[in-house]
Amino acid sequence: IFFLYLFTISSALLCLLNHGLEPPLPGPDGEKSWSKTYPSCGGLLQSPIDLHDDILRYNASLRPLAFQGYNQSASPQFVLTNNGHSVKVKLPKDMQVRGLGARYNASQLHLHWGDKNDPHGSEHTVGGKHFAAELHIVYYNSDRYPNDSVAKDKPEGLAVVAVLIEVGSSNPAYDKIFDHLKAVKYKDQEVFIPGFSIEELLPERPEEYYRYRGSLTTPPCYPTVLWTVFRNPVQISQEQLMKLETDLYCTHMDDPSPREMVNNFRQVQKFDERLVYVSFQQGALKQTGSSIVLSVALACGLGICIVLVVSIWLFRRRKSKKGENKGVIYKPALKQETEAHA
Ligand SMILES: *[C@@H]1O[C@H](CO)[C@@H](O)[C@H](O)[C@H]1NC(C)=O
Ligand SMILES: *[C@@H]1O[C@H](CO)[C@@H](O)[C@H](O)[C@H]1NC(C)=O
Ligand SMILES: *[C@@H]1O[C@H](CO)[C@@H](O)[C@H](O)[C@H]1NC(C)=O
Repeated sequence: IFFLYLFTISSALLCLLNHGLEPPLPGPDGEKSWSKTYPSCGGLLQSPIDLHDDILRYNASLRPLAFQGYNQSASPQFVLTNNGHSVKVKLPKDMQVRGLGARYNASQLHLHWGDKNDPHGSEHTVGGKHFAAELHIVYYNSDRYPNDSVAKDKPEGLAVVAVLIEVGSSNPAYDKIFDHLKAVKYKDQEVFIPGFSIEELLPERPEEYYRYRGSLTTPPCYPTVLWTVFRNPVQISQEQLMKLETDLYCTHMDDPSPREMVNNFRQVQKFDERLVYVSFQQGALKQTGSSIVLSVALACGLGICIVLVVSIWLFRRRKSKKGENKGVIYKPALKQETEAHA
């Protein structure tokens, strides 16, 4: 209750403070000063984070998400935009994700990436390791709020579904975005692209995911995001990644000092006293693995002890029985008596 109270108060304050401000350019140099203009960026529940075994807890109540209205036909078209810090696809509101409690309608998707010399630009890391890039599909709580701009600084306002991207085989679904990057090379350029099924962008086994409460990873860093990071990455080819890393600029077309749009990911944030719930068990919790090994070892030890004790006891018993062997004679008689009674 206290936490919720704190959350509500801080959200309300930040809403007042930040309303109407233009975000500064992100990037490794810029992000240290974000919190001067955007206090949330230095505040609670910040994202992204490193996903490592110590903070992961299996939670059986995490059901698979259901994606609805994802099978968009080629028309209506999507709008692709260069917003100066990423490339963004505006998504139709009738696209939804279910399974997060409230109903969340889609708002937009965008990507984060590195550069061609250091192609490790995912925001979330797993065991300290960056992936090549990361896709974010952003939703807003449509049970409570009319659109994403109203929802973004409110409690339970947003949900982001994140896809980790690694280099491997070519992925035709991603070309439906990447093929149009050259049309939005510079800041504020927009182009219509044919609609397509967003579900094609998701990895295998989307029922396996990480879940935690965090924030937007760009200013104003509102701590209002329910995160779902899929466990399995998708693959794109080296050539596809190269398009992301080289086609775009942060600056306007007529800017005399153009800046390439690279390394537009935020560093991982502190994650004190928080837990990430995971929907999958296998391999996720090494502690569980080692405790199983320990129990098996203990059971074996105990088993050996019991066997030893029993055999010693039997051995001693047999030894002492040898002395009173005469008793055996009476046994058949005893048995007959029992049978007669039966
Ligand atoms: C599982 O997650 C839900 C929220 O999704 C939470 O309310 C519940 O306490 C968690 N259960 C455990 C055992 O951690
Ligand atoms: C969210 O999507 C549903 C289903 O398409 C739609 O009926 C509803 O009006 C949308 N909500 C908002 C706030 O746009
Ligand atoms: C969002 O909804 C609010 C309240 O209905 C409205 O004033 C605002 O113009 C909407 N914003 C956008 C971007 O649609």
